[in-house]
Amino acid sequence: MKLAVLPGDGIGPEIVAQAVKVLDVLRRDGMKIEMEEAPIGGVGYDVAGDPLPEATFKLAQESDAVLLGAVGDWKYDTLPRDVRPERGLLRIRKGLGLFANLRPALLYPELASASTLRPEIVSGLDLMIVRELTGDIYFGQPRGITTLESGEREGLNTMRYTESEVRRIGRVAFDIAMKRNKKVCSVDKANVLECTEMWRQVMIEVAKDYPEVELSHMYVDNAAMQLVRAPKQFDVVVTGNIFGDILSDEASMLTGSIGMLPSASLDANNKGMYEPSHGSAPDIAGKDVANPLATILSVAMMFKYSFNDEATYQRIDNAVKKVIAAGKRTADIWTEGCTKVSCSGMGDAVVAAM
Ligand code: NAD
Ligand code: IPM
Ligand code: MN
Repeated sequence: MKLAVLPGDGIGPEIVAQAVKVLDVLRRDGMKIEMEEAPIGGVGYDVAGDPLPEATFKLAQESDAVLLGAVGDWKYDTLPRDVRPERGLLRIRKGLGLFANLRPALLYPELASASTLRPEIVSGLDLMIVRELTGDIYFGQPRGITTLESGEREGLNTMRYTESEVRRIGRVAFDIAMKRNKKVCSVDKANVLECTEMWRQVMIEVAKDYPEVELSHMYVDNAAMQLVRAPKQFDVVVTGNIFGDILSDEASMLTGSIGMLPSASLDANNKGMYEPSHGSAPDIAGKDVANPLATILSVAMMFKYSFNDEATYQRIDNAVKKVIAAGKRTADIWTEGCTKVSCSGMGDAVVAAM
């Protein structure tokens, strides 16, 4: 298999290096994995004047899967929007047709005390957020900042979904629910926004093809509250791009840290890009303290979703479980009595456990 490796900015290169160590173990054990690195984000802008250089996109297209670190840094925040690092990420998602973003929030039992919530609220937590990734207010036209006749500025974005876009993400969510606890909660703001009123109508239609799955609906404001009140009520949560972005960061804290939340972004044929749900964490970049587990677990997801290799998924997941059970913790999940390890130390520990 050929992998495009896109480390990106901030902690991106540090965490991706740990995931590559894991891939090297698999290679050593006989798996044929070819890896090629390419710039994206701020690094892409620095070397090619483009946050998604053409050669990087071509490599991603030609590869069987993409591994991405993170993009973005404060120093690029004043650039024109089109060349900012985040635009590179949005373009590669859209360009590859990666409409389904799976963000599993799963609590490893020993991390119950690392969560900011009480252990009994989070213990046993296992929920899957299915976030639509190529539509919504992220891509809707018109958009922009314009100056009105009055001389006042106006900022404009458009929340927009077509029926077919909603239907295909709905199917992904229901298919996943069929392999889990057969519950889908669709999160919207149908009481206020027409776009999500249509979303709800389509979800009800999709549900007719899945009589075994129980569909419920929740407004996003209530969902944000319920996630910290009683998160175990959820099995699969399906929602649009912007609500999914926000709710998945919130859900990550249930697992102890945003550094624990992996993700898979899939197209219609399960070709995918795998990246942690968090960003480039400029505040801790270059210090070898970031948690690489979200990235390592994203590699595990790559085997499960793109290569249909459950055994390798389990092998990586079990190695992570072992390391956590052994009390090794990066700073973000460290609690009294545990052993603090660096980013590279965590990568080495996972490799040893494999
Ligand atoms: P962030 O996720 O980068 O960081 C938020 C907080 O979480 C920070 O305190 C950071 O130190 C911490 N954190 C994040 N990942 C961690 C890890 N693996 N281990 C330990 N701590 C971790 O979000 P932000 O600060 O809002 O954004 C920073 C930059 O990242 C921005 O430029 C933003 O646009 C970009 N961003 C990129 C992605 C992506 O590439 N997928 C996602 C989110 C944000
Ligand atoms: C994420 C990030 C991105 C998003 C940004 C960096 C474009 O926050 O992957 O969650 O909003 O999708
Ligand atoms: Mn986000």
